[in-house]
Amino acid sequence: MDMIYTPAFILLFLISFCQSDDRLTPTKPLSPDDMLISSGGIFTLGFFSPTNSTANSYIGIWYNNIPQRTYVWVANRDSPITSSSFGKFVVTNNSDLTLLDPKETLWTTTNNITTTEATGTAAILLDTGNLVIRLPNGTDIQSFYYPTDTILPNMTAPLSSKNEGYKRLVAWRGPDDPSTSDYSMGSDSSSVLQVFIWNGTRPYWRRAAWTGALVNVVYRSNTGTIIFQTIERRGAEFYVTYTVSDGSPSMRVMLHYTGMVKFMTWNSNSLSWDAFVEQPSAKCDRYDSCGPFGYCDGTGAIPTCKCLDGFESDGLNFSQGCQRKKELKCDGTDSFITLPGMKTPDKFLYIRNRSFDQCTTECSSNCSCTAYAYANVSSLDTIGDSSRCLVWMGELVDTRKPAGGITENLYLRISSSSVDEKKIAKLKIVLPIVACLLIFTCIYLGCKSRGKSSRKVQNKHKLKHLNASDELGNEDTELPSVGFEDILIATNYFSDHNMLGKGGFGKVYKGMLESGKEIAVKSLSIGSGKGVREFRNEVVLIAKLQHRNLVRLLGYCIHEDEKLLIYEYLHNKSLDAFLFDATKKSVLDWLTRFMVIKGIARGLLYLHKDSRLTIVHRDLKASNILLDAKMTPKISDFGMARIFGGNEKQANTKRVVGTYGYMSPEYAMEGYFSVKSDTYSFGVLLFEIAWSLWVDGNARELVESSVVERCPLDEVLRCVHIGLLCVQNHPNARPLMSSIVFMLENETAPLPRETVYFTLRNHEAEDRRKYMGRSETQNEMTITTLKGR
Ligand SMILES: *[C@@H]1O[C@H](CO)[C@@H](O)[C@H](O)[C@H]1NC(C)=O
Ligand SMILES: *[C@@H]1O[C@H](CO)[C@@H](O)[C@H](O)[C@H]1NC(C)=O
Ligand SMILES: *[C@@H]1O[C@H](CO)[C@@H](O)[C@H](O)[C@H]1NC(C)=O
Ligand SMILES: *[C@@H]1O[C@H](CO)[C@@H](O)[C@H](O)[C@H]1NC(C)=O
Ligand SMILES: *[C@@H]1O[C@H](CO)[C@@H](O)[C@H](O)[C@H]1NC(C)=O
Ligand SMILES: *[C@@H]1O[C@H](CO)[C@@H](O)[C@H](O)[C@H]1NC(C)=O
Ligand SMILES: *[C@@H]1O[C@H](CO)[C@@H](O)[C@H](O)[C@H]1NC(C)=O
Ligand SMILES: *[C@@H]1O[C@H](CO)[C@@H](O)[C@H](O)[C@H]1NC(C)=O
Ligand SMILES: *[C@@H]1O[C@H](CO)[C@@H](O)[C@H](O)[C@H]1NC(C)=O
Ligand SMILES: *[C@@H]1O[C@H](CO)[C@@H](O)[C@H](O)[C@H]1NC(C)=O
Ligand SMILES: *[C@@H]1O[C@H](CO)[C@@H](O)[C@H](O)[C@H]1NC(C)=O
Ligand SMILES: *[C@@H]1O[C@H](CO)[C@@H](O)[C@H](O)[C@H]1NC(C)=O
Repeated sequence: MDMIYTPAFILLFLISFCQSDDRLTPTKPLSPDDMLISSGGIFTLGFFSPTNSTANSYIGIWYNNIPQRTYVWVANRDSPITSSSFGKFVVTNNSDLTLLDPKETLWTTTNNITTTEATGTAAILLDTGNLVIRLPNGTDIQSFYYPTDTILPNMTAPLSSKNEGYKRLVAWRGPDDPSTSDYSMGSDSSSVLQVFIWNGTRPYWRRAAWTGALVNVVYRSNTGTIIFQTIERRGAEFYVTYTVSDGSPSMRVMLHYTGMVKFMTWNSNSLSWDAFVEQPSAKCDRYDSCGPFGYCDGTGAIPTCKCLDGFESDGLNFSQGCQRKKELKCDGTDSFITLPGMKTPDKFLYIRNRSFDQCTTECSSNCSCTAYAYANVSSLDTIGDSSRCLVWMGELVDTRKPAGGITENLYLRISSSSVDEKKIAKLKIVLPIVACLLIFTCIYLGCKSRGKSSRKVQNKHKLKHLNASDELGNEDTELPSVGFEDILIATNYFSDHNMLGKGGFGKVYKGMLESGKEIAVKSLSIGSGKGVREFRNEVVLIAKLQHRNLVRLLGYCIHEDEKLLIYEYLHNKSLDAFLFDATKKSVLDWLTRFMVIKGIARGLLYLHKDSRLTIVHRDLKASNILLDAKMTPKISDFGMARIFGGNEKQANTKRVVGTYGYMSPEYAMEGYFSVKSDTYSFGVLLFEIAWSLWVDGNARELVESSVVERCPLDEVLRCVHIGLLCVQNHPNARPLMSSIVFMLENETAPLPRETVYFTLRNHEAEDRRKYMGRSETQNEMTITTLKGR
């Protein structure tokens, strides 16, 4: 309220000089051609038609200086003017705003405060976007207390439904239809601690109960704007205010017509609104989507339903939620486990005036109590209570474990026998059983692969990352199985528009999850036995691999015959698109190319050596190198990769797969492959990256234009040289990836001289080379030869 007095004084001062156009008075109504503009030129109030096609028009407030028309408030959203030319917006002598058309009153406020003409009432549009009716005694009646779908900075919105003046936010019915839809947002009617989005009368999303401890929540938008959320308790009422620092871009919080709440800032570079917080962001974030005793785990790459500790579900179907593994005894032997980092479930009892210990007793003394949570509330309420003890009786619904934000401990009651068993099991029972199982599994899998059986991968097959340190230290993170429906929606039902290309064994589609996360979905051709084998190969393999130069697998999906792999989406697609496209080629300057080369080398080194397994990719080529937005290369397509056991160095196959041109001679002709086959392909790739620039004559330009002291020509030659070493005919002569990485990264490391610099493709030549031994061909000569082309 304080802030209102100062502008009021200034405005009164101005009024004496000129008729300001930021206000309405009883003698000056607003007609369809007029508008009010706030004194600082921030907001406009006027008549508008959301689409030019419909005749319906409305009174609304929008940003004056934002080119994309954005409405923050609409007066007559459910009673539009159908004949726009006749509408009139007036402030009456009774301090009410009224919208009249020739026949009737379409919309009106009901203040009914009679004022005399001399002192007069006025409606003023402020720079905050607030339309206030200013009474002669200085009191304002604010549009901020009657929001439509938008909360603006500095708007103090009461959270409590007990406040009579307060109305929920109600979304527009459609992008061009301001009428009230079924989606609304506001505080819980039974407790003021939670905020809900409803779809009609059903909850659609729920913000976890207020933890009290943090009054100021800070959000940071993409553009760096910091948004403070202040929750204030005045007696039994709660108020929320969002504030941004002065000079920040425009910010708003709105309930979108799709039912999502969005925090948006205006981006003056892209001339669009950036949404930096959107809820519900994932399907399992929606109210109660994981069933009783299930929870939505948002800490992984893709949010998925899981069961609370001590509970289990019927496979991956969470429609019935989760059941206790061990029933409660209710004889005082049950115990509580602490689940940290949770967003508390819905349907709690709010018990007042308790200490933490009293809250614990409150729950442990009644066997129907399944969980409790406790928080200190920073401000006292009317009864002098600063505690917040929540207890749950019966089922726990709509629990979440978010990746960040405000969370708290949830204390969950489980049968203590399952706690004890867990401890004993760890020591005595499980280990031998697991060991036995592992041995049997190994034998079984060994037989199966020999028998060329192509049985389906089990749906419940769980995979573990070798290194899950990026998943909040949870060693047991499982590769999520993603619902087929979600993928259908994400890829627009596998529409051709979304197709990115055809990989080794199927098509690749671009998709967008509900959270806005972009994914690439690889669908493996169905029916063929090959497909199943490649699928299993790829899932098992990639799930274990974590390296910045390998494409990351986010999840998988098996639906009937359909087998899908979900990868991170990489913005710059594949390397061949750059190398062999005349226009895109110029994007690749030498620095980028060299970075790409080094990245591929590191990725390969990881595959060959550092990943604890020896993996031969077998199909390394430009189209299998994907590039992210920063042009970081990522090796993809592991459909043909092979894992080598401990001492195994080379293998033979009758089924030669791969791409001719990239294939080493011993593999193409005899089916022998080893890590050196990949070295060969890497050499070919090196030529394609380094030499193509060289041949195009770009190298010289680059050298001349270069401002760096270190001459890139050296680097180019070094790469060509390494490429030559890699494509040597005899596998043993080719360097290991570890030396290649070393040679690429250390510009002073000496380069060995290659023996034969071109590929001998027949046995005669091979034999001749053997007799000749290591002929000391000069590097310089080699390079001169190349330059000549
Ligand atoms: C509506 O008409 C105005 C003025 O004629 C024009 O600037 C605006 O682009 C039109 N909007 C749409 C959605 O067609
Ligand atoms: C307001 O009151 C004055 C005098 O009492 C009257 O002349 C005027 O018409 C009234 N205005 C409206 C909109 O009722
Ligand atoms: C406005 O208030 C007066 C008395 O203060 C009452 O007579 C009148 O009926 C009220 N009008 C409306 C529309 O409620
Ligand atoms: C919000 O209020 C603060 C303090 O009253 C003021 O400094 C700031 O300019 C206001 N912000 C907007 C967008 O009106
Ligand atoms: C101003 O008048 C209104 C309506 O009569 C009243 O509700 C409000 O309390 C008054 N404000 C002050 C500061 O007297
Ligand atoms: C909202 O409810 C309606 C009808 O109850 C339903 O058709 C619609 O799918 C719901 N919306 C969402 C996003 O679940
Ligand atoms: C999940 O289980 C329910 C009932 O048990 C069943 O109606 C539903 O079809 C199942 N959903 C899936 C995807 O299997
Ligand atoms: C809250 O609890 C304290 C002690 O536990 C007691 O003295 C006080 O009267 C209680 N307040 C209310 C409102 O019950
Ligand atoms: C336990 O809580 C339930 C639900 O609030 C209540 O009906 C029941 O009487 C309580 N039992 C005891 C022993 O307090
Ligand atoms: C609540 O506050 C008390 C004393 O200020 C402190 O000992 C306790 O740890 C706090 N509890 C929580 C859950 O923050
Ligand atoms: C996991 O990755 C991190 C860096 O991402 C690394 O520091 C750590 O050593 C890795 N752990 C294992 C077991 O590979
Ligand atoms: C680079 O190679 C040279 C020569 O082998 C060696 O002396 C130097 O230590 C290497 N530098 C790095 C950073 O490995």
